[in-house]
Amino acid sequence: MRKKVTIVGAGNVGATTAHWLAAKELADIVLVDIVEGIPQGKALDLLESLPVERSDVGVVGSNGYEPTAGSDIVVITAGFPRKPGMSRDDLVRANAEIVGAATAEVAKRSPNSILIVVTNPLDAMCEVARRVSGFPRERVLGMAGVLDSARFCTFIAMELGVSVDNVHAFVLGGHGDQMVPLPRYSTVAGVPITELLDKATIDRLVERTAKGGGEIVNLLKAGSAYYAPGRAITEMIDAILKDKHKILPCAAYLQGEYGIRDLFIGVPCRLGAKGLEQVVEIRLTAEEKASLEKSAQAVEALVKTLP
Ligand code: NAI
Ligand code: 2OP
Repeated sequence: MRKKVTIVGAGNVGATTAHWLAAKELADIVLVDIVEGIPQGKALDLLESLPVERSDVGVVGSNGYEPTAGSDIVVITAGFPRKPGMSRDDLVRANAEIVGAATAEVAKRSPNSILIVVTNPLDAMCEVARRVSGFPRERVLGMAGVLDSARFCTFIAMELGVSVDNVHAFVLGGHGDQMVPLPRYSTVAGVPITELLDKATIDRLVERTAKGGGEIVNLLKAGSAYYAPGRAITEMIDAILKDKHKILPCAAYLQGEYGIRDLFIGVPCRLGAKGLEQVVEIRLTAEEKASLEKSAQAVEALVKTLP
């Protein structure tokens, strides 16, 4: 039997994720949104593309949660995106209500599912989903690190004029302007970028990565990024559905790892069929550790404001 993935929120990120999932023939897809006609229309349009793609997955759209029952994975993208001048944190109250309501609906119909939260502010919304679902930490993850690392990879590849295929980049921390790109662990064909680029250049790429979401918001003016986020979500789903034991940077609920407890923050996670298999602890310098702690404090302050 094919796996089933529900995506709550059929907006830019939700629909783009569905597109990637369907093209890769990864699972049957259910799109849920409150706007009448949108999930149904996008689902039908996507379904009609699949004979050309030669992909045999089902895609349905709904304004209710009935078709989501028995999902293996639920992606939550419902909520408001950022507008220019707005921080991710400004979104907290409005989106906590939406994410909480969506989580309650999916958790009762898919009690064994793995939740992948995307709605911003990401780390705080993961906490909302964890509290409302009551799921163990293995089954509540947030997507941001794959996206932030992909942005860092893009900028490194552009700077050095090399294939993106040669570049691996590492970003830790909360999904905010205080995220922590790690140049020491970011490599080109296995060589750390600290050997290839001077400090001023690395600092510039790190800054661009940390502000990468805002850069797209300022260009689009109405809305935020969705192609790269949709592909990043698909990477996490692929690792889980194929039980790949793949290490990807994700928001996970830490229980003492990196000296942090009871907080979602972006760290390297080994993903497999059960969701989070292990938080991978890498050695950090005092400076990197201090940056991660600063990022964690920003997430903690936000979590305290949750209703
Ligand atoms: P969008 O506005 O295009 O789509 C959001 C969708 O959610 C809309 O279709 C809306 O009707 C729907 N929605 C609102 N309330 C709902 C409810 N109660 N139930 C079901 N659906 C509901 O926004 P976009 O661009 O898709 O972004 C979605 C969220 O993802 C935003 O919070 C954005 O900031 C966040 N985001 C997070 C990223 C990350 O790296 N974690 C990356 C990109 C976006
Ligand atoms: C991004 O980083 C908006 O958080 C979203 O693009």
